[in-house]
Amino acid sequence: MQDHLIIFDTTLRDGEQAPGIALSPDDKVAIAHQLAKLRVDVIEAGFAASSAGDFKAVSRIANEVQGPIIATLARTHPDDVDQAADALKGASRKRIHVFNSTSRIHMEQMLRMTPAEVKASVIEAVRRAKRYVDDVEFSPQDATRSDPDFVAEVCRAAVDAGATTINVPDTVGYAMPDDFVALLTKVYGEVRAGNEDVVISTHCHNDLGMAVANSLSAIHAGARQIEGAINGIGERAGNTSTEEIIMAVSTREDFFGVEVGADTKEIFETSRLVSRLTGYPVQYNKAVVGRNAFAHESGIHQHGVLRNRETYEIMDPAAVGQESVIVLGKHSGRAAFSDALTRLGITLEDVDFQRSFERFKKLADRKGEISEEGIRAIVAEEMGGLPGEMLLVAIHMSGGSDETPTARVTLSRDDEEITSESEGDGMVNAAFVAVQDAFGIAAELIDYRVEPITSGADAMAVVNIVVKVGSETHRGRGVSTDVVEGSVRAMVAAMNRAAIGRVAVDGRPA
Ligand code: KIV
Ligand code: ZN
Repeated sequence: MQDHLIIFDTTLRDGEQAPGIALSPDDKVAIAHQLAKLRVDVIEAGFAASSAGDFKAVSRIANEVQGPIIATLARTHPDDVDQAADALKGASRKRIHVFNSTSRIHMEQMLRMTPAEVKASVIEAVRRAKRYVDDVEFSPQDATRSDPDFVAEVCRAAVDAGATTINVPDTVGYAMPDDFVALLTKVYGEVRAGNEDVVISTHCHNDLGMAVANSLSAIHAGARQIEGAINGIGERAGNTSTEEIIMAVSTREDFFGVEVGADTKEIFETSRLVSRLTGYPVQYNKAVVGRNAFAHESGIHQHGVLRNRETYEIMDPAAVGQESVIVLGKHSGRAAFSDALTRLGITLEDVDFQRSFERFKKLADRKGEISEEGIRAIVAEEMGGLPGEMLLVAIHMSGGSDETPTARVTLSRDDEEITSESEGDGMVNAAFVAVQDAFGIAAELIDYRVEPITSGADAMAVVNIVVKVGSETHRGRGVSTDVVEGSVRAMVAAMNRAAIGRVAVDGRPA
């Protein structure tokens, strides 16, 4: 059987220390329930002595959340340890996490304590915590900038006083994998002698973007607990991201040789909940939980993924509660467009497919991403055509607020092109008159509606119009990111309908 890697989640303690986050006790309880569903092993629910709100949240989580061990942080002050124990009273599985700093800069500048005083405070606090709970964790804060001999000495003293987990924090994100492993190996060697059950843990910050790498490197040095926060939130640049650790060791079990008990399918839901309640967005390209983590944009990648997902995906998106997304954009090819049509239940003849695809590429070049509604609208417009219809080739608009708006519209049918120019009392009006002139048909506009079908500054819109020609009405529909172009397309569609059966002997619509 493989070694178990303990996932210690500190979203509710270190994660909440991220600037601007203030979770209410209700929010914290909701996140704790979700973390229990994710089946992390330990939930650090807060820092009980830090505020009345945190005490309440820790105490509610201790009473209400079943499954994981519930932990709370405590300085070495006797009162902190007592409050931690008090807040954890209701938990069936509980841990007190004691910490004090071991780096020179922290001891001299912040604590104003000598190394001997720090060591004594740790021994006393661990012993005190042990009076309340069996499970006590100790962390030498700023370990990676501390004298390794002193870190090992204090950790050994903590273990002798009863600590069952020794957590080595890279508090300021200073370590690199190699020196972090060297420090851990030393501490491990020191504290483990005669105490085989002591668990070595890591807690890495991300100031140099190394938190996950440093944490993972520690597994080979014997670490069997990794601390992290969902979405990597936490002080400054944040913590190791819990979900990245879970997926790294699950995906590369062959490399790490450890297993985790997490229900990975709950990862995405947990990430979204934390993002929503903290107000911290998840960056689009964030590993595992980013909106683009399983999104494929280039034609080559899309082609590969549509044939076999594993050509470009090392994790099954369903395993983390996500799904693959084929982003239909300017880099997409025929394979992706065809796949989108299949998913929409649309079958096209070759010639219609070609025309719709060309139109899609033109639009995507301007807009970037085209949604499913966008595809539907493009196809509907392209398919709305009639045999012998006129197609829009170009529109040129000039004039504006000070000058009379002028539109020049070029249409084609078979090999013939017709250009018509007209003025109007607005851009759309000028363009409508130009289209009617090109067809040689006078029409009265009786309905005009613009509906956005995608959001954002460059949203696509559908323009629907109804025109009256003589006693008959005709509908037209146009899609574009530009309202004038959408309107012209709608008018061309309506005019094509009006022109049915009215083709003159010279072949031009009458
Ligand atoms: O970063 C740190 O050192 C901590 C400790 C309290 C574990 O958060
Ligand atoms: Zn921290």
